[in-house]
Formats: sequence, C-alpha cells, structure tokens
Amino acid sequence: MTRTALVTGGSRGIGAAISKKLQDDGFKVAVTYAGNDEAAAAFSRETGIEAYKWNVADYDESAAGIAQVEADIGPIDVVVANAGITRDAPFHKMTPEQWHQVIDTNLTGVFNTVHPVWPGMRERKFGRVIVISSVNGQKGQFAQVNYAATKAGDLGIVKSLAQEGARAGITTNAVCPGYIATEMVMAVPEKVRESIISQIPAGRLGEPEEIARCVAFLASDDAQFINGSTISANGAQFFA
Ligand SMILES: NC(=O)c1ccc[n+]([C@@H]2O[C@H](COP(=O)([O-])OP(=O)(O)OC[C@H]3O[C@@H](n4cnc5c(N)ncnc54)[C@H](OP(=O)(O)O)[C@@H]3O)[C@@H](O)[C@H]2O)c1
Repeated sequence: MTRTALVTGGSRGIGAAISKKLQDDGFKVAVTYAGNDEAAAAFSRETGIEAYKWNVADYDESAAGIAQVEADIGPIDVVVANAGITRDAPFHKMTPEQWHQVIDTNLTGVFNTVHPVWPGMRERKFGRVIVISSVNGQKGQFAQVNYAATKAGDLGIVKSLAQEGARAGITTNAVCPGYIATEMVMAVPEKVRESIISQIPAGRLGEPEEIARCVAFLASDDAQFINGSTISANGAQFFA
C-alpha cells in the first residue's frame, strides 16, 4: 500500500530534502509553498512532486488546499508541518507585526495544517504528524523572542497531540534542527554565521538531508511506539 505525505514549505530548504527523502522511501508526496513560484516550479520539474500554493497562516486556505491535495493523491497519512519564517529583532525593537507574522506562520500554521487532516487520521486509525521545531525553541535565542516562542509552542502541541492521538493510531513527534545550511541561515551575514558555527561542537552547519532522515524515521513503521518525542539534530550545540 502506498502511503501519502504532505510537507508544508516543501519546495525549498529542509522541506525539499524531506519531500525527496519521503518520495525515495516510497511515499506519494505533495508539498506546499507560500509565494516563490519559481522555486516551486523548479522543485516540481526536478522531482515530479506537485507543489500547492497556500498560506499556512490562513485556516480556510489550508483546509481548502488540503481537501484538494486529498482529492488528487488520496487521504493524507503523514503530515510534516515544516513551513516557517523568521522576523528577527531584539525585543525592544520587535514590532507587533513581526511578532504576529511569526506566530501566525510557525504556531497557528501548525494548527491550520494538522487540524484539517486529524479527523481523517482518527477515522482510518493511522497517522504520522511530524512538526519541525528548532533548537532555538528549546534554548531561546537573542533577537528571536517571537521565533523561540513559536518553536517552544510547537513542542507543546506535539506533546498534547501525542496523548490525544495515541489510541487512534496517530503518532505526533517533533524534530528540532540546529543550524542547517539553508537559505534561511545562509542569508545571515557571514560574520554572524561564523560565530554560529563556532558554537557548534561539530564545527559545521547541518545538512537538510540530515533532518530529512530523522523525519523519514518518524514516518516509518519502525517508529510506531515513538509518540510525543523530540529528535534533536544539532551537532551537540544543545541538550534538551
Ligand atoms: N534552517 C535552519 O537552520 C533551521 C533550524 C531550525 C529550524 N528550522 C525550521 O525548519 C523549517 C524549514 O526551514 P528552512 O530553513 O528550510 O526554510 P526556507 O529555506 O526559508 O523555506 C521555507 C519554506 O516554507 C515556505 N513558507 C514560508 N512561509 C509560509 C507560509 N506562510 N505558508 C506556506 N508556506 C510557507 C516557503 O515557501 P516560499 O518558497 O514560497 O517562500 C518555503 O517553501 C522552518 O520551520 C524553520 O523554522 C530551520
């Protein structure tokens, strides 16, 4: 039986690596993106995976988009809530807009992504929910009050959903990446990046594929009894 997987923000960065890995593992995959049509089209050309455009911060858009994905590839067995953004500023300079953008995308976006697929997973007595949190949700980070709040909140969602889904055959787990070499991290000034790397005992950034392998494990049958857990993949930068 071919299982299906939906990866939000799956057209670029970590999400693209996750999508490709799940496809390699035999899943029928669909991805979403927010607005970068060019990157999404290039990803679909390369992989043959359909990319759907909607804003995870909008519940109605998410519900309608998910209904379309299910009409196209079938009921969703695995959902990876990966879409996320940063809007960094020290707290005294952080605007309410920066706060709300990050909360709406990284926290409410997880609700909007999982809530529409949850009833179907309960009915079918199978589901894998995997949320991409962050080391900075575990430890906090200067100039990321908004981001750290969402990523810590995501862990609260995971631990609560794990309890709600356990009897219905649904597992919910988190992956907390450390600093990974994606556009999000490569966009920071080189000096800042060097100082970040100096704080990672492994002496390097992680690769998106290293996160993808964690997700693939959590999506697999081997991970059936793992529920409400967090896999930290951060090169020994932080121990939760
Ligand atoms: N990179 C790291 O070091 C790192 C570390 C820890 C955790 N993470 C987490 O890992 C996840 C992926 O990060 P990344 O570095 O791979 O990011 P990225 O390269 O910036 O890619 C982000 C993806 O999310 C999509 N997206 C953003 N906002 C969206 C929205 N409102 N609705 C729908 N899609 C949206 C983007 O679509 P468009 O292409 O259309 O913009 C893109 O596909 C995020 O949750 C991030 O917080 C990353």
